[in-house]
Amino acid sequence: MAVTSGEGDVGPGGDARVKIFDTTLRDGEQSPGISLNLREKVEIAEQLARLGVDVIEAGFPIASQGETEAVQAIAKSVTGPVVAGLARCDPRDIDCAAEALAVASRPRIHTFIATSEIHMKAKLKLTPAQVLSAVKESCGRARRHVNDVEFSCEDATRSDPEFLVEVFGAAARAGATTLNLPDTVGYALPEEFAALLTYLRSEVGREVTWSVHTHDDLGLAVANAMAGISAGARQVEVAVNGIGERAGNCSLEEIVMALRTRRSASRSDTAIATKEIARTSRLVSMLTGYPVPPNKAIVGANAFAHEAGIHQHGVMMDRTTYEIMDPVDVGLEGSRIVLGKHSGRHAFVKALEDLGLSLNKEEMARAFTRFKAMADRKIRITDVDLEAIVVDELASDEDDYELVSIQVAGGTHLSPTATVRLRRGDEMIDESAIGDGMIDAACGAIQRAAGIDARLESFTVSSVTGGIDALGDVTIVLATQGDGGDRPERRATGRGVSTDVVEASARAYLSAANRLIRITTSIAPTSSPSSVYPSSP
Ligand code: KIV
Ligand code: ZN
Repeated sequence: MAVTSGEGDVGPGGDARVKIFDTTLRDGEQSPGISLNLREKVEIAEQLARLGVDVIEAGFPIASQGETEAVQAIAKSVTGPVVAGLARCDPRDIDCAAEALAVASRPRIHTFIATSEIHMKAKLKLTPAQVLSAVKESCGRARRHVNDVEFSCEDATRSDPEFLVEVFGAAARAGATTLNLPDTVGYALPEEFAALLTYLRSEVGREVTWSVHTHDDLGLAVANAMAGISAGARQVEVAVNGIGERAGNCSLEEIVMALRTRRSASRSDTAIATKEIARTSRLVSMLTGYPVPPNKAIVGANAFAHEAGIHQHGVMMDRTTYEIMDPVDVGLEGSRIVLGKHSGRHAFVKALEDLGLSLNKEEMARAFTRFKAMADRKIRITDVDLEAIVVDELASDEDDYELVSIQVAGGTHLSPTATVRLRRGDEMIDESAIGDGMIDAACGAIQRAAGIDARLESFTVSSVTGGIDALGDVTIVLATQGDGGDRPERRATGRGVSTDVVEASARAYLSAANRLIRITTSIAPTSSPSSVYPSSP
């Protein structure tokens, strides 16, 4: 892997070429309530490859067996981008990451350690000298495994700049080829962040790629990343829809479109196929169960909507009066009708192929059944509808419980009642419940059938596409009670789509319940940073 200098990477037209390091599957997956299964992670990784990211951070292999397997599966299925695995500055982490990445065609080990006084003292209980020696050993060890090594100083923006020079310098001398400056707690201001990077680049003085990793606690993640790029960063770490720890990471779509739209001012660009942005955003939102807010820049439902009469009039005269980007460029051409009630299996398979969705035989059979049920109720089925039901089916791949049927009854004089049938392996479980409304009754019946003890934390309904026959899209967050000790509170998000909002709610509830079961019965990493990053390095 070539080592590149800050100014070395130049794209067409002389603009700086900024690499996109996507951490949706690592930092993004650490968002509360997200727990993707292996199949979902591979699906997202393959879409990220289609989007054209340079690096996919596939996970943190030492965190659990499931995480190791997911990194291995991504390393095997993705060939274009570099595949990175995270490792603390610990020989066991580094060896585990190397093993998980063994099949990758372009592996990268990303190793990190905290360098701020508060983190070193309170969390790591290490002296600066011990941290420095762990960095030298770890970068050297990682470099003996792979040629592409990234090193990060966790909580860099609250670290002593002179100590950062020492640590980054040692990392580069030991073999790190990318040096990453994280604003771990989202504390920096853009000018400060740029000044810090400028200082580090000049003091460390090594031929490396400088990278920035920013968090959004003050809503400055994208601004800080832009400032970092203006100060010479040639890699930016991002997550789709800006998901990630706490307030999230720098949003992929925002930084990419900021650089592309203002290329003449930023003199920088990426290699992202921007027309894949909308689809990537929908896929990540559907699989993580994190809805995209309507006013979210670039990918929100209202990002290109014009409400005020003056604006509408202006856009009708000339789109560029109020639109600085063309929605077509981010893949929002409007949904295309691809299938209808009379479409058969052949047309269905072809439509999925055209959408780049690859399913195995079993998934295909399940998805086709869902499609047929939907086609009975919805006349026009668009590419976006199709994507939604297929993704909904993929999400249920490793579920304990499957929804077989649901029946609800109610009205002005009848208490809302729901009866559900769930399948668990070969067993069928039937349960009924009365509720405040039909949705409440449906969720109550599922709660009984799955024997789940959780409270409903949030409930969001939207629609997949517009129109009276739109697919309802429901997101539910369930949480278990913690006991303040060994049994921490757990949270899981579930999503369900259907032409019927009660069925969509039932599917979302069951999906969240299945995830909760998976989280509580496995040792998979949770949203809690302390469990993902235990205190010893
Ligand atoms: O925010 C952070 O510091 C991180 C590092 C592991 C890069 O995510
Ligand atoms: Zn982070």
